Amino acid sequence: MSEFTVGETDFLLDGRPVRLLSGALHYFRVHEAHWGHRLAMLRAMGLNCVETYVPWNLHEPRPGRFEDVQALGRFLDAAREAGLWAIVRPGPYICAEWENGGLPHWLTGELGTRVRTRDERFLGHLERWFGALLPGIVDRQIDRGGPVIMVQVENEYGSYGSDAEYLRRLAGLLRAQGVTVPLVTSDGPEDHMLSSGSIPGVLATVNFGSHARAGFETLRRHRPEGPLMCMEFWCGWFDHWGGEHITRDAQDAAAALREILECGASVNLYMAHGGTSFAGWAGANRGGGALHEGPLEPDVTSYDYDAPIDESGNPTDKFWRFREVLAEYAQGPLPELPPAPPRLGTEAAVLLTGRAPLGAVLDRLGGPETSAPVPPTFEELDVDRGLVRYEVTVPGPRQPYPLVARGLRDLAVVYVDGERAGVLAEGDEQLKEPVAGHARVELWVESLGRVNYGPRSGEPKGITGGVLHERQYLHDVRARGLRLDALDDIGDVAFEPMAGDGARGLYRGTVTVRGAGDAQLELPGWTRGFAWVNGFNLGRYWSAGPQRSLYVPGPVLREGENEVWLLELEESAPEGTESVLLRTA
Ligand code: GLA
Repeated sequence: MSEFTVGETDFLLDGRPVRLLSGALHYFRVHEAHWGHRLAMLRAMGLNCVETYVPWNLHEPRPGRFEDVQALGRFLDAAREAGLWAIVRPGPYICAEWENGGLPHWLTGELGTRVRTRDERFLGHLERWFGALLPGIVDRQIDRGGPVIMVQVENEYGSYGSDAEYLRRLAGLLRAQGVTVPLVTSDGPEDHMLSSGSIPGVLATVNFGSHARAGFETLRRHRPEGPLMCMEFWCGWFDHWGGEHITRDAQDAAAALREILECGASVNLYMAHGGTSFAGWAGANRGGGALHEGPLEPDVTSYDYDAPIDESGNPTDKFWRFREVLAEYAQGPLPELPPAPPRLGTEAAVLLTGRAPLGAVLDRLGGPETSAPVPPTFEELDVDRGLVRYEVTVPGPRQPYPLVARGLRDLAVVYVDGERAGVLAEGDEQLKEPVAGHARVELWVESLGRVNYGPRSGEPKGITGGVLHERQYLHDVRARGLRLDALDDIGDVAFEPMAGDGARGLYRGTVTVRGAGDAQLELPGWTRGFAWVNGFNLGRYWSAGPQRSLYVPGPVLREGENEVWLLELEESAPEGTESVLLRTA
């Protein structure tokens, strides 16, 4: 058994100085059958450690109901087998371009901005969650023969809050539940962030993409002693729907990595391999400059991140350049790259065979219908990812007046008396044509992902301000939610023959595959929705780009016939439904 400790200037393994050459890889963004390959790729790049967050909302979808909390333990076992140490960052908040920064919707729905503070109700929920999660980490600490050498307390807390008592309670909780390895915090290299994000007795680290010397100088002003570490070296970046695809030059990133190592510091590449935000778990930012109060900027499904190991697991130019730099700091020759997982043999077209209108899908798979004076939020309807149909009646007879979905988050496809009347969005909340009474109005509202960073994280989804006709609130709202995970098993939803009229709805089809392996699903002409292969939700597609196709992990495909479902929420390709195809990744 070994002991990992924090020395005055170095990390120490059984008393000997070691440098952590770590890379971020989120187990929840990689198909489990690919973990071994990706971890071996980290080793081959020259890393000796892997780092992962843990998303609370994935594992506790409803209070007290846990789902596959063991996944983290299985991943840590795979890391150990791959010969890597592990850093675990269990949050509870993780940011990470992940829905709600990892906090459950039911938690932020109940507590709002009381989360991430010493609020007793928040700490109560947290204690229950950590009670389920932490044993899997504690049992795999290095002093028990496991790979875990460090555990992070919160995440960039100094970018968010200033409740030092909360951080102390959180660290205390980790210790009380048996975490014996060093604890660590990580923050931006700014004085106010470091002073509010770190706590005495816990190692502080910094996050940045360049200017290592300056970053570590700032850290030294706060911590004259202790090993230097960049916990998130941003060697790439993520994309927003409707934005530009962002890349970072490989040579520039390699030079920035070298600067970190020349400072004598340890590093965690964020990301070494980004993977995919499957199943609609991608989060969102608020734009608008430093205050992060501006327009919603939802994150794309791919979390490729322009990382050295791309979304399909291939080494990029950045991989080879990082490998050169890391090789100089390695104990011996670097291991060879593992064999790449199989790729799809030949391109294959999806044959769509039927469609179910959304109303029918809602009837089969939706939650209970509720009726209330004002529209309930997604949180109140227990919808984490998915959509809600709101129905109101405009009393009549009355003159035509503007109809407004006040405080809409995020998008609404609107029908008046069964006719499509427009698509509304936050900031564009009024129907083009005024509506006369009597009329029956349906607003199908979608969440594009909850904010994961800044003061607006955790804000609720839905029609948060009410439905207005002229300036009058239309009270008496019927609402019904459709959780995305309800569609993982579509059961006996009844499908109608294909019509090729561009309508929205749930489409079903098959694709016959020869040589199952990694693929990309292409949907030219389709607008926005979600795609499943054999019940595995690949995530959101959207013609807004910049992402153009969805990554299909080889292990979800099988030789021969496969099932495909498309939930199109706006408009399907008019005629060419046969244009949906799988191509080799
Ligand atoms: C911060 C967070 C990460 C991630 C990056 C941006 O550093 O700590 O979780 O969101 O920003 O990718």
